[in-house]
Amino acid sequence: MPEKDIFILGIESSCDDTSAAVLKNSTILSNVIARQDVHEQYGGVVPELASRAHQQNIVPVVDTALKRAGIRKEQLSAVAFTRGPGLLGSLIVGTSFAKAFAMSLNIPLIEVNHMMGHVLAHFIDEPGKEKPTFPFLCLTVSGGHTQIVLVKGPLEMEVIGSTIDDAAGEAFDKAAKLLGFPYPGGPMIDKHARNGDSSRFTFAKPFVKGYDFSFSGLKTSILYFLQKQQQQDELFIEKNLDDLCASIQHTIIEILLKKITRVAKDLKISEIAIAGGVSANSGLREVLHLKAKERGWRIYIPRFEYCTDNAAMIAITGRFLLESNRFCDQSVVATARYLL
Ligand code: KG4
Ligand code: ZN
Repeated sequence: MPEKDIFILGIESSCDDTSAAVLKNSTILSNVIARQDVHEQYGGVVPELASRAHQQNIVPVVDTALKRAGIRKEQLSAVAFTRGPGLLGSLIVGTSFAKAFAMSLNIPLIEVNHMMGHVLAHFIDEPGKEKPTFPFLCLTVSGGHTQIVLVKGPLEMEVIGSTIDDAAGEAFDKAAKLLGFPYPGGPMIDKHARNGDSSRFTFAKPFVKGYDFSFSGLKTSILYFLQKQQQQDELFIEKNLDDLCASIQHTIIEILLKKITRVAKDLKISEIAIAGGVSANSGLREVLHLKAKERGWRIYIPRFEYCTDNAAMIAITGRFLLESNRFCDQSVVATARYLL
């Protein structure tokens, strides 16, 4: 007898994107993401505004995800949601919705660690796309985290390096803010860097022992450099925007690449994946391809839509958890800090 299809509704609301996705076995049928433009003008995510926007978005986003997937809610096998880490007010919206939805349908509820979700996005079935084999290393680079994760199995992960201050995405966003871009500025730096000369300006790189990262010194170095230049020429940023973006991006990528290369060498692992919002960066993707050739790595880069926050990655993680019967009950609560 053929096995019954498994349909999982994934819900993500950890930061400023409200997302819902429907997974059929390991294939994504829909992945709806409502971005919140309201934060642009403030230069960063305003938690209170984010949770209010999630409240407005969650019902229509889930409804659209089900419609696009072409299924009825009664066909769902389980609901998986992001329990943490993230902004508490935002997480509470997704968590409460998921609990109520699962209860009303009388189906299992699965809580997901957002960072695990970023890593497991690599296991969504896609035509022509290979999946990493265990053990592999994942460089998870997002707005809130920068981690090197040793992935021993789908649910067996160990963080072996992380940032001691700012995350890589934060470094992009803070640098972008200094250059005058709205939040989140990472994609704008990426865009301008394509036309710039990355060797034009050099910025201080940190010295951090072991496999950890630091990005706060870079931000200060950029700030002082810009202040000095602007004293001589008010239009310094405008005149040199592309080269500034290319040089900043290059520095961030070098910091990331140096550490992942060291870990890969020490652990003798040549299966390397990237994940998280910054893995959408075209410069990072390009350099990784070159590194792979040079070092004999097999690299895994997510589709753009699965790099930044999305519910598809939560749904696929839910699938792995469901297979090992890791469900939760109605007493579950959102948690802002949630270690892998
Ligand atoms: O994973 P994500 O969507 O949210 C968090 O979990 O934090 O990551 C968002 C981060 C932001 O800092 C954003 O600027 C950065 O990812 N980002 C990029 C690019 N696309 C998104 N940074 C550099 N280049 C990009 N193309
Ligand atoms: Zn994320």
